[in-house]
Amino acid sequence: MPFEIAAIRAGFPALADGAAYLDGAAGTQVPQTVIEAISAAYEGGLGNLGGAFPASARSGHIVAECRQAIADLVGGTAAGVVLGPNMTTLTYRMATTLAKTWRAGDEVIVSQLDHDANIRPWVQAAERVGAVVRWGRVDARSGELPAEQYGELIGRRTRLVALTAASNVLGTRPDVAAIAAKARAAGALTYVDGVHATPHGPIDVAELGADFYATSAYKWGGPHVGTVVADPALLETLHPDKLAPAPDDVPERFEQGTPSFADFAGVTAAVEHLAGLDPAAAGSRRERVLTSMAAAEAYELSLFTALINGLEAMAHVTTYGKAPERTATAYFNVAGRTPRSVAEHLAGLGVNVWSGDNYAYELTTVLGIRASGGAVRAGLVHYNDRSDVDRLLGGVAELA
Ligand SMILES: Cc1ncc(COP(=O)(O)O)c(C=O)c1O
Repeated sequence: MPFEIAAIRAGFPALADGAAYLDGAAGTQVPQTVIEAISAAYEGGLGNLGGAFPASARSGHIVAECRQAIADLVGGTAAGVVLGPNMTTLTYRMATTLAKTWRAGDEVIVSQLDHDANIRPWVQAAERVGAVVRWGRVDARSGELPAEQYGELIGRRTRLVALTAASNVLGTRPDVAAIAAKARAAGALTYVDGVHATPHGPIDVAELGADFYATSAYKWGGPHVGTVVADPALLETLHPDKLAPAPDDVPERFEQGTPSFADFAGVTAAVEHLAGLDPAAAGSRRERVLTSMAAAEAYELSLFTALINGLEAMAHVTTYGKAPERTATAYFNVAGRTPRSVAEHLAGLGVNVWSGDNYAYELTTVLGIRASGGAVRAGLVHYNDRSDVDRLLGGVAELA
């Protein structure tokens, strides 16, 4: 079934401003259904959790639905879905919590491929307890994170391996399953940053071997809500700092303060939106998500071929990364121009792209471009179309 891009785009009110939204890796637009779900939650009346009145029960229902929706999106069970404001906040919380179980001399492995949100919380937590930080190294030429090196990196003292399911600038998808299997065999846990990977294809946390899988709804058509998915039995063994009267249940004990209930309704609607991307998808919502995300991935990659081939054909453009397994994310520089000035030129043409290190701080250092302002990032998501690609290529061609 062909990807019905016109119908999909019509569902996103923001796209009507005529811009080519190639900034999805930094945050996507939201479909009308998500906007309506958030409004409907407020219109229906909400209350804080645990009250004796119906508005409180409505909030409780919204929370439960949101957990189930996330489990349907990435796998796992609703009882293991921790909700929070964003991935960074939750990862700091998990790092602080897990570090309570570490001892001086234990080892933590981070990777140069990661967004800093899956590096610094672990490095800082390790420093506090005297744990040793070891690094998974990126091949600067290919942009790959070779899995083989983890055979040497992981050892008897390894407690945690943190790595990304996809680089937010190069799009590289490392072999998470192979790395997580090595970690598990050594008795170590794996914390996977799924923020960039989740919008770009089917995800199954069990197949990845992720003990923890973090993602942010605002990268896949939802509001600003983050989540970490883990086995509830694992969460039961962990004890985050919490307020004395706050629930001590799992997953609630990992959640701090009062969340945005209406946004959670938006998260559920975003998962429904993703599940419906392939109108022929059938079965449970989980099954429809898997079918639809496979269709979205194929669609994005077909557009990406045109985008990356177009950029690589320009003599004044340098592209970064060429991993065979990658998301539809291009990272490039234009000779004689700063990344920011390229982004400004494209903005003048109604093409939205990012420039800078995009918090891929270690990776841009390895690539040798951090000091000079990083590069330009143009990322495709399921609502982009061929005209977005052509406008980008036309705008970059003008800079020759
Ligand atoms: C790969 C990746 N990880 C983590 C983050 C941080 O996510 P959040 O903004 O939800 O804290 C981002 C945000 O851009 C990202 O792209």
